Amino acid sequence: MPEWNQGYMTDVNYTKNAFNEFSPANINFALTLSSQPVPDLNKPFTYAELGAGFGLSISSWAAQYPNGEFHSIDFNPSQSAWLTKLRDGAELKNLHIHERSFNQMLGEELPQFDYIIIHGILSWIKPEVRKDIRDFMTKFLKPGGVVYVGYNAQPGWSTVGPLRHIILEGAKSTGEKNPIVALTQGLNFLKELKEAGAVYFKAVGNASNWLDSWFQADRNYLVGELLNNEHKAFYFSEMMDEMAEAKTSYVGSLELANYLEPLITPQEFLKRLEQVSGSLALRETVKDMLYNSTFRYDLFVKGPQPLPRTKAEKALNKVKVVLSGLRGSLPEKVTLKGVQVTLKPEVYEPVMEFLSKGPATMEETSKASGLKFNQAAQAITVLLALGWAQAAPPAAKVEAVKKYNLALDDLLGPEAFNSLLTVNGSWLRCGFLDRLYGLAVMKGVDPVKFVTEMMKERDWQLSHEGQPVTEAAKLKTFLKDQVKKMDEQLLPVFKRMGLYS
Ligand SMILES: C[S@@+](CC[C@H](N)C(=O)[O-])C[C@H]1O[C@@H](n2cnc3c(N)ncnc32)[C@H](O)[C@@H]1O
Repeated sequence: MPEWNQGYMTDVNYTKNAFNEFSPANINFALTLSSQPVPDLNKPFTYAELGAGFGLSISSWAAQYPNGEFHSIDFNPSQSAWLTKLRDGAELKNLHIHERSFNQMLGEELPQFDYIIIHGILSWIKPEVRKDIRDFMTKFLKPGGVVYVGYNAQPGWSTVGPLRHIILEGAKSTGEKNPIVALTQGLNFLKELKEAGAVYFKAVGNASNWLDSWFQADRNYLVGELLNNEHKAFYFSEMMDEMAEAKTSYVGSLELANYLEPLITPQEFLKRLEQVSGSLALRETVKDMLYNSTFRYDLFVKGPQPLPRTKAEKALNKVKVVLSGLRGSLPEKVTLKGVQVTLKPEVYEPVMEFLSKGPATMEETSKASGLKFNQAAQAITVLLALGWAQAAPPAAKVEAVKKYNLALDDLLGPEAFNSLLTVNGSWLRCGFLDRLYGLAVMKGVDPVKFVTEMMKERDWQLSHEGQPVTEAAKLKTFLKDQVKKMDEQLLPVFKRMGLYS
């Protein structure tokens, strides 16, 4: 094992993910819901991500937010080299890539940051590396700046510890060097234990569900999640204590469903939460037990300055959002944090109708839909929590976003990827063909011709009703048909999201 990795598993690269949750506009939305002041994204601001992996999230914000200076920090050289290629291809002058450990960064010249992002790191590093991160915050977080920490949480992870332990011990006992093989062997062995009637799987309710979900998950991701020597799932109070050492205090969550407490919390839960309202640590921990949290998305601020109610409402009025999904028929019920919520058509129909025309502020939506502001604000928060709407970046430029999507596609080559960066929102999740269609639209070329060329160049094959479409004439007819559907259904979404004028 190389020494530079400080015990962190680096034999397998992390997956290429982008998380809409930590776009500057989304963080600002959550801060506004928490009655906190936010950095003005129309003015210069600074943003750092610690352990950025391949850096898809941070690089995409660099493309969308010309006023931000973005600093990606990750010691993995191959991930940093890949990100450098993306930065150069997309000509992102405001993205600074530091191929350094957190500890090494403590000696570097850096600006004071408005945002520091730490997602999927704290649970998998040694205590002394967590201390480096706290020292980084102490040194480089602006007074009033926000830190987002996303980490594995208790009590949801309590089931997993023993499963992970068997996988780790199995890997040690066989001496298998390839982590993906070791992981697969471990998973198969656990399955055998379960099938043999191991009492653990009967006694611990959701152990089987975890195991089943791992068989479906990306193996590179799971290696990082399960085979790292370090793993710690935190109780909220433990995280709060560590974050206090860096002079930061909890202000809210990036899991937007948490702002819908009156809507999604059963009466019985509300009563219990009321009982413990005097202690933030206990209240949040009880909430984690009520919902069996496995992951937390916490926001901590250095020296929070809560806004008075009138100012907080004014700020919420100005939040701009965009409808990201297709305007399909409205389901009657949806699930948020495991709780069923009824979407009242008299509230959601007018909100979605108005938002389907383009990005709009909360205030505009409430006026146009004829709803009281609080009703419209709650409906919009539900749409964002469901991922059907997104917070809008205020100053994104079409050219920069196009350049980013095309540079990313060039770099990915034949690798599968299912998202497009947009101008009026963040990442739009879409299917394989949808993405190619979107790239053709952005390039202004004939989609059928473009997709056909890509298929050939990248050795991709399409299948229809379970059968590969190989014959050129059949492929052409099939693609023409698909493109017609996408012209009708996808083009309006691309238009709304600013990828097509
Ligand atoms: C699980 S990945 C998370 C990537 C990204 N934040 C995400 O959520 O998609 C953790 C990243 O932290 C980096 N990392 C771990 N320990 C580090 C350290 N001490 N200094 C710098 N980077 C580190 C790893 O190289 C890896 O890319």
